[in-house]
Amino acid sequence: MSLLEVENLRTYFYTESGIVQAVDGVSFEVDRGETLGLVGESGAGKSVTVKSLLGLVNSPGKVVDGSVRFDGRDLTECSERELRREVRGSEISFVFQDPMTALNPVFTVGNQIAEIVEYHTDATESEAYDRAIELLDDVGIPDPEQRVDQYPHEFSGGMRQRVLIAMALSCNPKLIIADEPTTALDVTIQAQILDLFDEIQAKYDTAIVYVTHDLGVVREVCNRVAVMYLGKVVEHAPYEELYRNPKHPYTQSLLRSVVRPDERVDNLNPIEGTMPSAIDPPSGCRFRTRCPVAVDDCARIEPPRLDVGPDHDSACILYEEGYGTDEPRLHQRGKP
Ligand SMILES: Nc1ncnc2c1ncn2[C@@H]1O[C@H](COP(=O)(O)OP(=O)(O)OP(=O)(O)O)[C@@H](O)[C@H]1O
Ligand code: SF4
Ligand SMILES: [Mg+2]
Repeated sequence: MSLLEVENLRTYFYTESGIVQAVDGVSFEVDRGETLGLVGESGAGKSVTVKSLLGLVNSPGKVVDGSVRFDGRDLTECSERELRREVRGSEISFVFQDPMTALNPVFTVGNQIAEIVEYHTDATESEAYDRAIELLDDVGIPDPEQRVDQYPHEFSGGMRQRVLIAMALSCNPKLIIADEPTTALDVTIQAQILDLFDEIQAKYDTAIVYVTHDLGVVREVCNRVAVMYLGKVVEHAPYEELYRNPKHPYTQSLLRSVVRPDERVDNLNPIEGTMPSAIDPPSGCRFRTRCPVAVDDCARIEPPRLDVGPDHDSACILYEEGYGTDEPRLHQRGKP
């Protein structure tokens, strides 16, 4: 059994302009100790997906369907109190894009880390303080004994992100959800933070869901990848397989738009057009308005996720029987 099993998750926002189908039937799994990348353009529904897992979607948003099984328990059935007390920040923790908004400017970083440790464990105040120093050391902050008593503004952007990661680690979570944690950082610092995620995984055996719009980042940290487009997972595979053998036309376009280290920048080939609104998404395949190989049926048939290789599925009707491609079967685990 996987650590996290998300099945047919739907999260809608009931706005005055209509129902935003932000997440519309998303399924994926994360095994213990592995990193799953959740990738897609802005507005694909990545953040709403991960917030839905932990009951963090606020009105007018609502999880309207699906299940989120974590370690054998359905989180969609848990009360807010249970989630706060037993899940968030202890079993599962979050690292967000902007460390400044997640840190409280009036408390020292040591205080903030120790507070979480005290809330979730039996540690005394002084044990929690020592644990804070240990954690700062673990995430590569030099002189942790001095730094522990400093305030967030005394840290650089990259160091603040390390503090957030230390906070996320403070209760030995089984799963860390990182939503674009390096987007606000410059490239060198980004690379260091990505290395840090690798080290953490090796040391703590934590599973990670890593949200990003950047497939280059994914290659650094992820074992498997789920590609999202307009509220749906359109392709899922181990990273190497996805990179070498992308099947969905959207993934193929995404990969073409990544600057690969072995290629020159002028090969950069951004995807044409923009993602349609999630209020009234295209019928059939949601990618069809931008798909270079769309056929008439794409407007009529909503493509299910079909197995196209080992642990690899893709939601494109070109892989249905009768379209002349290599005999895929309906993907069994995550239904369409
Ligand atoms: N509070 C809200 N009210 C209405 N619609 C919302 C709300 N929050 C998100 N949405 C909509 O849900 C959809 C998915 O948004 P989401 O933030 O998950 O995208 P994302 O993939 O995380 O994008 P980005 O890469 O920009 O962070 C978008 O169409 C967005 O406009
Ligand atoms: S189902 Fe049709 S529109 Fe969608 S990705 Fe496949 S070919 Fe393109
Ligand atoms: Mg987001």
